[in-house]
Amino acid sequence: MDWGMQNRLSRIINPKTNRCVMLAVDHGYFQGPTSGLERPGETVAPLLEYADALMLTRGVLRNTIDPGTTAPIVLRVSGGTSILKDDLSDEDISVSIEDAIRLNVAAIAISVFVGSVNEKRTLTNLSRLCDRGQKYGIPVLAVTAVGKEMARDARYLGLACRIAAELGAQVVKTYHCEDFAKVVNGCPVPVVIAGGKKIEERDALTLAYNAVSDGAVGVDMGRNIFQSRWPVAMIRSVRAIVQDGKSDAEAWEMAQSLMD
Ligand code: 5RP
Repeated sequence: MDWGMQNRLSRIINPKTNRCVMLAVDHGYFQGPTSGLERPGETVAPLLEYADALMLTRGVLRNTIDPGTTAPIVLRVSGGTSILKDDLSDEDISVSIEDAIRLNVAAIAISVFVGSVNEKRTLTNLSRLCDRGQKYGIPVLAVTAVGKEMARDARYLGLACRIAAELGAQVVKTYHCEDFAKVVNGCPVPVVIAGGKKIEERDALTLAYNAVSDGAVGVDMGRNIFQSRWPVAMIRSVRAIVQDGKSDAEAWEMAQSLMD
């Protein structure tokens, strides 16, 4: 891996711990003003100091995030559909590599929809994006999106993660599942998990703990942080698990002490 690529990756995945707490606030790119993200700049402001990276779109970055921030940016560069469509897989690359460079991002992110009607297009989009990233030393995070009707099991997620890595992604984001260690084992690049829909705070901490215990390098978590009544307590407790090696029970104690 060349120096620039490695350096950018090191800004996201801490090389001392090989772990990463990424805060995902890109949901509006197909969901519109997602609950908790109506004013994304205000949502992320108190959370940024606890995040190793921030994942978002260029519109939210340019319009709501202070350019003085030191948080590494993981820029979502795929889109083209909305929740008004049944099939969300109809995505293309939505940002030029020049604009990503202009925004000084640490990585670029794209969804792939393995098994969907648009499987081939989203996978070839990923390949094209990896070529562009390779040219300028910008790592690609592939998001293995799962259609409503698809099983989130180790066989499917393992297939999707492996394909994303084979096509050139430097990091893969997926969902935790039973036998998740098999997913990680079959994927030659670092894996982070999405948090998914909002669940109880205690359960979200267990999810993060199970993911890293099963070999994920960390989380790219959104709703279970910013939709919590206690977003700062949540991100700090998730961080305690991912970066400080705390158990979910220890992190829950910490979370409770931080909840007002
Ligand atoms: C949407 C995404 C989101 O960033 C991802 O789902 C993470 O957020 P959450 O923890 O809320 O699931 O990539 O496609």
